[in-house]
Amino acid sequence: MDKITFYDESSSEEEELTVPLPEGWEDRITPTNKVYYVNHKERVTQWEHPVSGKIRSVTSFLPYGWGRQEDTEGNRIFVEYLAQRAAYTDPRLLTNPHRKRYVLKIAKAQGRFVENSFTDRTTAAEVIEGVDMTGKVAIVTGSNSGIGYETARCLASQGCHVIMACRDMTLGNSKAENIIKIFPQAKLSVIKLDLSQKESVEQFSSEFLSLQLPLHILVLNAGVLGLNWALSSYECEMQFSINYLGHFHLFYLLKDILKQSAPARVVCVSSEAHRYTNLNHSNLDLDTSLSKTKPRDYTAITAYGNSKLCCIYLALEIHRRYDQDGIHAYAVHPGVLISTRLSRNWCMYRLLYFASRCFTKTVAQGASSVVYCAASPLPAEESGLYYFNCKPSRPSNSAQNSHPAGILWDVSLRLIGEGDRREEDLSADTET
Ligand SMILES: NC(=O)c1ccc[n+]([C@@H]2O[C@H](COP(=O)([O-])OP(=O)(O)OC[C@H]3O[C@@H](n4cnc5c(N)ncnc54)[C@H](OP(=O)(O)O)[C@@H]3O)[C@@H](O)[C@H]2O)c1
Repeated sequence: MDKITFYDESSSEEEELTVPLPEGWEDRITPTNKVYYVNHKERVTQWEHPVSGKIRSVTSFLPYGWGRQEDTEGNRIFVEYLAQRAAYTDPRLLTNPHRKRYVLKIAKAQGRFVENSFTDRTTAAEVIEGVDMTGKVAIVTGSNSGIGYETARCLASQGCHVIMACRDMTLGNSKAENIIKIFPQAKLSVIKLDLSQKESVEQFSSEFLSLQLPLHILVLNAGVLGLNWALSSYECEMQFSINYLGHFHLFYLLKDILKQSAPARVVCVSSEAHRYTNLNHSNLDLDTSLSKTKPRDYTAITAYGNSKLCCIYLALEIHRRYDQDGIHAYAVHPGVLISTRLSRNWCMYRLLYFASRCFTKTVAQGASSVVYCAASPLPAEESGLYYFNCKPSRPSNSAQNSHPAGILWDVSLRLIGEGDRREEDLSADTET
């Protein structure tokens, strides 16, 4: 209970920008995002600000980390999950310093925030213990190794039918056999997927769809780090293609079955490396990723950071577009320098990962937040957020900005050959 604080509506940095409302007036927002003004004394409403005369509208999306819920009496409240605070006032209006404060009683806010006792030491198996996944179907990309394998193993252990999406079928099949040895009842299928090959992503999704299964969980986990500059069949830089674009394409091809199977979840495995990026945040300059000749300033670690920022944008944008259809999306940071095969492409990384393995998370601990977001019954209302140690966490400022996330979505559609946004995407671009 102590953790819950209430939004101090007078603390906004933008306060001074707003012309105060006269006594007895209040601002509100219509379902179409237009601001209107209520004069409580005279019981009238109007579009114009009573002092400045200006007409105002706001974006349809709440600021990063905010969501809508109901209090115990069915009134709409707004909660900020990261700060664990709540307000009756729409956060898009919190710039008005003269609003009457609507204080939410603690008792009413109880239960609005998901609490768990998981820590950085918690393993994925501990997170999923007791969760019945019977009847659920999940796809885990890159599940022949590391965090993806542990995720597939844990989901299968609880009765989930797991589709292991692997580039290396021999390794994929042998890893599936390992799981069956431990859990003989496990339902597993191994399907080939190479995220650097557009045709392979298409082939994978049609093979999956031909199984006529529902799809409740899509874990976009596969990843590479430290590759020399190379082009994928999408004609984009390789790390961008494997870590982000191939996953975007896969989601795009599977979104209808996710919708039909709702509630469904998409988990985008990102990294704290998203903070080390040279993407131009004002126009999302993707030159480094999209250039067909090696850019002079290409560095593998920055390309990795860029691709991981794109993974957070993917979760944010899926949330904005499809949450209302029952597809919830989460970005996850598994941990730092977890000893997996991720470091294999560069001996410097191998050395670093090896040297730090006693101080960092194990693979079982690294998979905990992925499994938490994929399977825990708790975080459905916290869709769109970035998770670390099974808790919502604040990503970089750029990663909270929905503007580049929207631009990236449109760029990505073009890159996978979808060109202009389709009708269904336009209709999905509404309030969540
Ligand atoms: N380990 C860490 O410290 C750490 C930290 C932050 C984030 N992460 C993220 O966690 C995720 C899992 O990484 P990990 O540490 O478990 O590494 P890992 O053991 O190397 O696993 C990566 C998986 O991705 C697959 N993959 C690579 N290229 C692929 C492609 N073109 N098509 C399909 N699959 C491909 C690999 O398959 P192959 O065996 O065929 O190569 C492997 O199964 C990655 O997204 C990574 O960025 C890891």
